[in-house]
Amino acid sequence: MANGSNCCLPTGNNGEDVYSFRFDPDSGKWKPWMKAGEVFEIDSKLSFSEIVVPTNDSVRNTYLMDLLLMNKKHVLMVGETGTGKTVNINQYLLGQSTVDDRPINENCLPINITFSAQTSANMTQDMLDNKMEKRRKGIYGPSAGKQYIVYVDDLNMPKRETYGAQPPIEILRQWFDQAGWYDRKELNIRKIIDITMICSMGPPGGGRQEITARFLRHFNIIGYTELSDGSKSLIFQTILANFLSRIDGDVEDVCKPMVKSTIELFNSIVAELLPTPAKSHYTFNLRDLAKVFQGCLMIDPKKVNGSDSYVRLWVHECKRVFADRLTNKGDLDWFEVKVKGLMKDNFQMEWGEVVGSESERLIYGDYMVPGADPKYYEQVTDMAKLKSTIEEYLMDHNAESKQPMPLVMFMDAIEHVSKIARVLRQPLGNCLLLGVGGSGRQSMTKLANYVSQFTLFQVEISKGYGLTEWREDLKNCLLNAGLKKKPTTFLFSDTQIVVEVSERSERALRKTRVRATATTKTNLLNYFCSIAALVFR
Ligand SMILES: Nc1ncnc2c1ncn2[C@@H]1O[C@H](COP(=O)(O)OP(=O)(O)OP(=O)(O)O)[C@@H](O)[C@H]1O
Ligand SMILES: [Mg+2]
Repeated sequence: MANGSNCCLPTGNNGEDVYSFRFDPDSGKWKPWMKAGEVFEIDSKLSFSEIVVPTNDSVRNTYLMDLLLMNKKHVLMVGETGTGKTVNINQYLLGQSTVDDRPINENCLPINITFSAQTSANMTQDMLDNKMEKRRKGIYGPSAGKQYIVYVDDLNMPKRETYGAQPPIEILRQWFDQAGWYDRKELNIRKIIDITMICSMGPPGGGRQEITARFLRHFNIIGYTELSDGSKSLIFQTILANFLSRIDGDVEDVCKPMVKSTIELFNSIVAELLPTPAKSHYTFNLRDLAKVFQGCLMIDPKKVNGSDSYVRLWVHECKRVFADRLTNKGDLDWFEVKVKGLMKDNFQMEWGEVVGSESERLIYGDYMVPGADPKYYEQVTDMAKLKSTIEEYLMDHNAESKQPMPLVMFMDAIEHVSKIARVLRQPLGNCLLLGVGGSGRQSMTKLANYVSQFTLFQVEISKGYGLTEWREDLKNCLLNAGLKKKPTTFLFSDTQIVVEVSERSERALRKTRVRATATTKTNLLNYFCSIAALVFR
């Protein structure tokens, strides 16, 4: 091999295998993907959802992606949901991740397309045609010397037509096979040059379809495996340690046990609380794990008062992310026993000493001082004051609103308001409220929206309300939230949902910064699999 080196397969010391190394032809040696002991510096300006920590898997996949794309080979990334496909590809295409310390070639220009069940062949064709320049007669492409990298996310989402084909995929296949497609007005063939495709998709199931092998054969396929526990703890330890380093005292010591406990808790929930027809929303993935840490980072470092108080916040965030989704007492008890065990084993702390007695409510919120700026996310200990504060908010709301709500506030209802307000304060926060009719899902959301000082946006379904109206409504909502920077709550209920519409809203939710709460039918849960669910008991 290169340099005549003795090229035996590498052996790792810590259980690494051949996939943990790459061969470096220059030195003739096997090198690990990541330099040992290297600590990733987090830019303090980034919000939680923008932090991406390199791991062995992500560095390896980015390297392979770079190698293939730079040699104009098409790539398809396949992996379970939440394995970081979208994040890794976007980071690479935006030049934010490097391979051998260099970002993507500057002559490569990314085009992003996300497929959904409703994407049509014409839409796909128009999206690409709009970006192309005329190079010669009948030949189109990026400007000379450039290369378009077309990134198609969720490739296998498009719905099948009558005969079983997926039109957006067929039009792309036509490009692969015939190097172009027809101009639909002129009816001339348009050849398209200098594009390379990168696609990503999850395995078939839950709205995702099986894709024809005639299309797949054009790609080099890279599989994304579920993140290993090592990678998960690397990601979250880096993020948490960076945050805790800003806190005085010995709070930093809780970093390792906190990450370890959360991963252990997550693994046992995934293994034991399985989805069944009655609990179809028991679907937990990496995004939920991340939300626990997102919650732990919401507190202001100056407000942390020793490790006990930080562990209390951790218990609260685990309850919000995991326990709020559980529907019966058996599961809730199981959860509590699990957390108690983890506190004892990993933190050497007793539940009673840190969290308080069984009957005490654990509530955090930023609403206790109305009109405060900035708002601090803090534990609420005085329940009487909490009740009076929320009642005051309600009175103010009723005085201002055209639709006053005659609500009686009791502790369970207040807790729900607090839980919704917590979701609203998170960037990209969204929440699915499940409960029987009349359990107060809409009114609590309206109140939480008022408490958080957000603008409430609801669509009004009248006779003849169709996709055009829906698009117009959604556009207005997004313009308000994105352009005018008005924090907006998008509330929609089961009576307003038409299946076709909900799938579109799901896409909007993933891509925008509108906080949304939905009160929907359980059979629409598939569309909201990644949304935190909150059960109204
Ligand atoms: N290396 C990483 N560092 C930080 N966060 C990560 C990393 N990898 C994944 N995540 C987090 O995991 C979550 C899921 O990632 P992503 O959206 O890329 O998954 P996906 O594989 O595209 O899933 P889907 O198939 O559902 O689209 C994101 O919220 C992201 O922030
Ligand atoms: Mg994705």
